[in-house]
Amino acid sequence: MRVDIVSIFPEYFAPLDVSLMGKARERGILDIHLHQLRDWTHDVHKTVDDTPYGGGPGMVMKPEVWGEALDAVIEDGRAASGPDALPRLIVPTPSGRPFTQEVALEYAGEPWLLFAPARYEGIDSRVVAEYGERLRADEVSIGDYVLAGGEAAVLVMVEAVGRLLPGVLGNACSVADDSFAPGAMANLLEGPVYTKPPVWRGHEVPEVLLSGHHGRIARWRRDEALRRTLARRPELAARFDQDDLDKHDRRVIEEFERSQERLEEGASTAGSGTAFRPGPDHMAD
Ligand SMILES: C[S@@+](CC[C@H](N)C(=O)[O-])C[C@H]1O[C@@H](n2cnc3c(N)ncnc32)[C@H](O)[C@@H]1O
Repeated sequence: MRVDIVSIFPEYFAPLDVSLMGKARERGILDIHLHQLRDWTHDVHKTVDDTPYGGGPGMVMKPEVWGEALDAVIEDGRAASGPDALPRLIVPTPSGRPFTQEVALEYAGEPWLLFAPARYEGIDSRVVAEYGERLRADEVSIGDYVLAGGEAAVLVMVEAVGRLLPGVLGNACSVADDSFAPGAMANLLEGPVYTKPPVWRGHEVPEVLLSGHHGRIARWRRDEALRRTLARRPELAARFDQDDLDKHDRRVIEEFERSQERLEEGASTAGSGTAFRPGPDHMAD
């Protein structure tokens, strides 16, 4: 896969030389090209931003410099990959489409990704409009929080996509067993994992994992994944497809729901007869 990244901080991507991503690059699985956006400026200060129309705080990245940079990078890539090649343009922004494992898998099927991480208040909106007419352009968010710039978002996406490429992971099965993986793990979090020793500081590894019984171990792992998802991510659990749940899954879910009801009942009974007594933090001066 070819990956182009245009940024005012290309040095930010040094981590892509390390570990799995570094090895994928060495093996030629991941062909990453970093570009300094300021190389396409024409003034002595190498200006990439300007004040926002309509006023307000912060600066906005200028469309001209992004246009020249993206045109040149696309032309370069086409010279290497063929005149019909076109990248998928990915513009990180908190207001974009949420980046999920499903999106990572979708991108892993692309031969060429072009990332345009912004700084300041983002890139002039006409840039995505312009390239959206010429190629597939996605605005993508990595979560409901605001970073100082898009570089960290690109690192997240490249690593999530890169590890899905054939030949990057030693054991390709682990991708299918991961949290959120389409198939048996869709909408599920992976359960707890353990290694040797069997007892550490008094904490024991669950007996079933030492049993060597593959069927029971697989069932335990699925039960734990269901319980963890129900407890930590109820909004994911709400998306469980009933057709994908077997009898045992349903029993685990019912048991979890009953235990929640018991907890809620316990909390309301404990609360009913007890007057609120302020602790030290609530004491009036
Ligand atoms: C300071 S942020 C601008 C945030 C913008 N004012 C807003 O509220 O949407 C600067 C840049 O960081 C990147 N960024 C920040 N948060 C992000 C997120 N959650 N996902 C993807 N990119 C993000 C984007 O490239 C964004 O243009």
